Amino acid sequence: MRLSNPEFRAMQSLPRRLGQRYFELPLFRRMGLDLHGKDVLEIGCGSGYGASLLNALGPKSYVGLDVMEEQIALARKAYPQFDFRVQDATDLRSFAGTNLDVVIIFGVLHHIPDWRKTIDEIARVLKPGGSLFLEEPRGVDLKLFDFFFRWGHPDSDFGLRALEEYLPTRGLTVRRRQWTPLLTMYHTQKT
Ligand SMILES: C[S@@+](CC[C@H](N)C(=O)[O-])C[C@H]1O[C@@H](n2cnc3c(N)ncnc32)[C@H](O)[C@@H]1O
Repeated sequence: MRLSNPEFRAMQSLPRRLGQRYFELPLFRRMGLDLHGKDVLEIGCGSGYGASLLNALGPKSYVGLDVMEEQIALARKAYPQFDFRVQDATDLRSFAGTNLDVVIIFGVLHHIPDWRKTIDEIARVLKPGGSLFLEEPRGVDLKLFDFFFRWGHPDSDFGLRALEEYLPTRGLTVRRRQWTPLLTMYHTQKT
């Protein structure tokens, strides 16, 4: 789902970028993220800052997708060397048969009312043994952000408990989980 204007602006901000660069990415790396020589898909890549961090890790291929045209326009302008696509993550048919090594999500599922469909699709396009790295906030924190900053997240039954119950039903085993004050981070593997 599209971001509200306040959240769209917040996602381009310096604090967001510092958090992603110096906190979230290093944590994912400690949890086993290794992109060297891998085929990588980033879901909800936003304006592309994550792409610059991920591509510095030496993947064989990288695709970043986002449902918002404005985000992809910003990403293409800032990083014309990377492959960005306007695409809804609930339909990954265009990746059928690509056997991705790694799918990575920096805080996106809580924006997708049909988030289970996105998990289904990721499980379909990942190769056996491939990894899904994802970070998502708790439901209570979403409510706080909506109350104080008017970010306006969609009505959804998304929550970390529901997520953790659903992942294994799609063959995605949680290998590592890391709680942080704003986001919980997961390394899951397709078995
Ligand atoms: C909270 S922002 C995070 C952006 C970026 N990953 C970051 O960490 O800065 C969520 C992103 O998910 C995108 N998004 C929402 N629903 C989506 C969907 N169904 N398919 C693909 N992207 C989606 C939004 O457009 C937005 O760019």
